[in-house]
Amino acid sequence: MTIPRTPYNPTDYGLPAEAEIAAWAAELFPEYHTEGELPATPLDSASYVYAPVVLPKEVESAPYRVLEIASAAPSVDQSLYRRIGNKSLAAIHADFPILAEKANGHDLVWLDNAATTQKPQVVIDRLKFFYEHENSNIHRGVHELADRSTAAYEGSRLKIARFIGAPSADNIVFVRGTTEGINMVAQAYVKQLLKPGDEIILTMLEHHANIVPWQLIAKETGALIRVAPIDKSGQIVLSEYEKLFNNRTRFVSATHVSNALGTVAPAAELAQIAHAHGARILIDGAQAVSHMPVNVTALDADFYIFSGHKIFGPTGIGALYGKSNALEAAMPYQGGGNMIVDVTFERTLYQNPPAKFEAGTGNIAGAVGLGAALDYVNSIGIENIAAWEHELTAYGMKALAGVPGLRLVGTALHKTGVLSFVLDGYHNENVGKFLNARGIAVRAGHHCAQPGLRFFGLEGTVRPSLAFYNTFEEIDKLVEALKELSADGSMNSPDKFNFSRRIFYG
Ligand code: ALA
Repeated sequence: MTIPRTPYNPTDYGLPAEAEIAAWAAELFPEYHTEGELPATPLDSASYVYAPVVLPKEVESAPYRVLEIASAAPSVDQSLYRRIGNKSLAAIHADFPILAEKANGHDLVWLDNAATTQKPQVVIDRLKFFYEHENSNIHRGVHELADRSTAAYEGSRLKIARFIGAPSADNIVFVRGTTEGINMVAQAYVKQLLKPGDEIILTMLEHHANIVPWQLIAKETGALIRVAPIDKSGQIVLSEYEKLFNNRTRFVSATHVSNALGTVAPAAELAQIAHAHGARILIDGAQAVSHMPVNVTALDADFYIFSGHKIFGPTGIGALYGKSNALEAAMPYQGGGNMIVDVTFERTLYQNPPAKFEAGTGNIAGAVGLGAALDYVNSIGIENIAAWEHELTAYGMKALAGVPGLRLVGTALHKTGVLSFVLDGYHNENVGKFLNARGIAVRAGHHCAQPGLRFFGLEGTVRPSLAFYNTFEEIDKLVEALKELSADGSMNSPDKFNFSRRIFYG
């Protein structure tokens, strides 16, 4: 049969050419593509293949090291001319249409990247393209659009596997986001390991999403939660972490990067220690993947999870990596279509991972958009992004430290661009409102990480958080505004900034 010609040009979007789709679809739906019009050339592994990527065993194992605070601030005038990878920062800014918005009459300064990142035009276009040219349910269709959407969806799974150094696309489960991924591991894998008195280790750096799911299963099974402490810089005390292990330890769940403090946790060491004590480990990568190269194989994480929207992709989509034997041992998380091989009223046979964990129709377009976001990040280079953010963070920490009355919270040597602080005499919310009046978006509150902030005697902070599209000038605007606020105590008036006692959920 002939694949119909349409204006669709998948190669423009990093997708396989039509002939490759046909070859691939023939494999999936042999009864459909029966006649011999498949391409003579083999699939090109450099572009797109639906086949496991097998990484060499000796993947680079050096843990990523981030920051030493730079001694001299770089020239502030030049950041838009800086090249991040092969693009100027000005061009990168232009890739993100929302960064041209005004907020309260000022140029928008987006410093709330730990909450969510903005989306480049290529991601927005990719979603539009999906709905214009590819929209269909996946896998079970026996038609052209099902082939297109399946190719796009599975193509993204492969891109994710490559991006985080997973051995195969089969190790990647699509989830709604990090929260759903952690809940899935807790319910589907860890719960069955637990007996009363067994222990789960967390750290003081955890987001509520990496605390509450464990409490839920601990309550159900009679297990206990133990917590690794942090030091005053906000770094995990490894020697104390190791002391928490005993013969009741069943599992560890730890963040890679703290959302409230920016601390880069020693994830490889956490995993190594957990494994030495016979426990498996989940690493929450929500705040890591957009800031530094991540290689789950080098980290030796048993599970690694991140959210698409924190890495310039859509909301409502994320990825869970699991080692093959861990995914095989896990129970299904939800039951439904897509995850079964055969159903009778007496029993059900499940698909192998990852389909086993993807009941129902997922966020297909979101998954495709996430693939486009990773392509975009790859086009700049995550190492280049990390290096630029390193400079920005150093610059920001130094500049903020110069604001009278400002106390930085989270000063670990290894940290990403989360610049949490409190300002003497000001409610965090008031600082946030004041900055908002200048077009500067930050988060103020407890950032869904109450235990960690309480370690510092705080109920919340003001949290500017950086992405690679931020500039020195934007940090200067933040610092100028804060200096103004700090110099004028009378500004701490609820009325002045329309302060309302909103409850910050998180
Ligand atoms: N977890 C997100 C944050 O840190 C929402 O703001």
